[in-house]
Amino acid sequence: MKQKIIITGGTGYIGSHTAVEFIMKGFNVVLVDDLSNSEVSVLDRIQEITGTKPLFEQIDLTDNNRTKSFFNAHKDASGVINFAALKAVGESVKKPIKYYHNNINILLNVLENMENQGISNLIFSSSATVYGLPDVLPITEENQTKRPTSPYGNTKKVAEEIIEDLTKVSESLNAISLRYFNPIGAHDSLKIGEAPNGIPNNLMPFITQTAAGIRRELKIFGNDYDTPDGTAVRDYLHVVDLAKAHVLAFERLISNQSKSNFEVYNLGTGTGYSVLDVINSFEKTTGISLNYSYDKRRDGDVPQLYSNPNKAQTNLNWKALLTLDDMTLSSWKWEQNLRNGY
Ligand code: NAD
Ligand code: WQD
Repeated sequence: MKQKIIITGGTGYIGSHTAVEFIMKGFNVVLVDDLSNSEVSVLDRIQEITGTKPLFEQIDLTDNNRTKSFFNAHKDASGVINFAALKAVGESVKKPIKYYHNNINILLNVLENMENQGISNLIFSSSATVYGLPDVLPITEENQTKRPTSPYGNTKKVAEEIIEDLTKVSESLNAISLRYFNPIGAHDSLKIGEAPNGIPNNLMPFITQTAAGIRRELKIFGNDYDTPDGTAVRDYLHVVDLAKAHVLAFERLISNQSKSNFEVYNLGTGTGYSVLDVINSFEKTTGISLNYSYDKRRDGDVPQLYSNPNKAQTNLNWKALLTLDDMTLSSWKWEQNLRNGY
């Protein structure tokens, strides 16, 4: 019998790549999403990649009645991967209630329904933003979490605290929080990838849209940081590497290998790249000369953020394998496919 897993936010960018990896590993996946930031056609594209069209329900997971019926119908699931969230950092600063309401209520509803249906295993999508402005680099999981610089980021920090509180008293909950650094790139098939609505907030889609002529110019936010070339440094990782980590983390949960019922893992390559490094890689792999200029620093940005991913390597046997060049080329190929209707 195939094990069933529930993937919330499953038609989204990381959720869809993760669904593919779970299907390929023989899991029976059920996706749930309200489609507020993704498209239902992702299901057909997952089928083109894997040969299987996952079960899907369109539900706003802040609606507890509908969430309850959904969990009741899937009480035989062995776990939940909780991706569903709003993630636009800038919007969260302007509309904090929208972000706290959505991201925290999704989590509370998921946790409550897992408990009611006796579903134990949870993987939560967290973020490197929980480290705030770090004192030490590279960042290990031992580093103190700090007040994130946005309400979005704070929903991740608060969510981790909620899960941890619950694991202290719950008889059954077994949770892993995965702290993603900067996922970019797309699936090799070029059937799924990141498709932001409107003007992208993140660097990589802004680069590919500029190269595609959709945006006139990339603005580099700050060239006066205390970094080798003055631009800010991040730990970019390929979304397919990231997706694979979820399968390994889930296998750790279901085989009861966790050392405690709340574990956290950094997911990054461990290498920091500056904005200019990313642009140089993009220009090298695609042969395109990118139109960019320097602008002032963006509020809330930290100068440098990169991981020490050793804990994930030791405990999950996970390591990011794809390089920055793989990531920038894959992002560009996806952008082209997206514009050509996949
Ligand atoms: P995404 O927007 O592509 O996917 C999230 C999905 O959640 C979307 O399909 C959206 O429609 C759905 N959703 C939002 N609110 C919902 C609701 N109330 N009910 C049901 N579905 C809802 O984002 P992503 O990049 O795939 O991110 C997945 C998760 O990873 C999120 O929790 C995000 O905060 C986290 N994360 C992302 C990044 C990143 O850079 N992409 C980095 C760190 C953490
Ligand atoms: C990367 C670098 C920018 C756009 C955010 C969230 C984090 C996580 C990942 C989660 C920074 C610079 C960007 C542009 C630029 N999200 N940049 N010009 O800010 O590291 O992380 O996404 O869901 O929580 O905070 O990622 O891609 O926005 O920026 O110069 O037009 O690129 O200043 O140094 P960030 P990013």
